[in-house]
Amino acid sequence: MSYIEFKNVVKEYKMGEVSIKALDNTNFQIEKGELVVIVGPSGAGKTTALNILGGMDTATSGDVIIDGKNITKFKNKQLIKYRRDDIGFVFQFYNLVQNLTAIENVELATQICKKPLDPKEILIKVGLGDRLKNFPSQLSGGEQQRVAIARAIAKNPKLLLCDEPTRRIRLQNR
Ligand SMILES: Nc1ncnc2c1ncn2[C@@H]1O[C@H](COP(=O)(O)OP(=O)(O)OP(=O)(O)O)[C@@H](O)[C@H]1O
Ligand SMILES: [Mg+2]
Repeated sequence: MSYIEFKNVVKEYKMGEVSIKALDNTNFQIEKGELVVIVGPSGAGKTTALNILGGMDTATSGDVIIDGKNITKFKNKQLIKYRRDDIGFVFQFYNLVQNLTAIENVELATQICKKPLDPKEILIKVGLGDRLKNFPSQLSGGEQQRVAIARAIAKNPKLLLCDEPTRRIRLQNR
């Protein structure tokens, strides 16, 4: 069995009379240690798939097996634990806490998990060693995105999910 099995997953958003299938019978497997990139046009369902993998959204139907456990069957408490202990997530729009500095944003995430890495070391690794005490508003878009990447990595998660993690950095280097 693969580390991740996404089986016949449907995600349907209903808004009044209209319904949109963001995922329509999606299937894939990912092995342990694999680095996988999901590519597709805007609106294809990439963020939806990542949110379901990260336990932040639930599938309308289908099964999502992670490390032998079917997370679609998880109760709320199990999902909280799964997100906290197993998942690192880099959001498409960073979601940094605006009144905390770069290092405090990373520390906030590492405080709640079991075997975190050192926040300062990770921020140095992403090239922000001299921006530790800056607030998000004092950082460029690409720098904020690197704080978000550092925050996810520093949790030392089993599964690192990144939603367009280099978008800002890419745009800035054009
Ligand atoms: N909460 C929601 N309610 C209704 N429709 C939604 C919701 N979230 C996403 N959708 C719809 O589901 C589809 C997939 O959205 P999703 O955000 O997964 O796309 P994406 O592939 O990440 O796109 P992008 O490249 O623009 O980030 C889109 O048509 C979107 O409008
Ligand atoms: Mg998206």
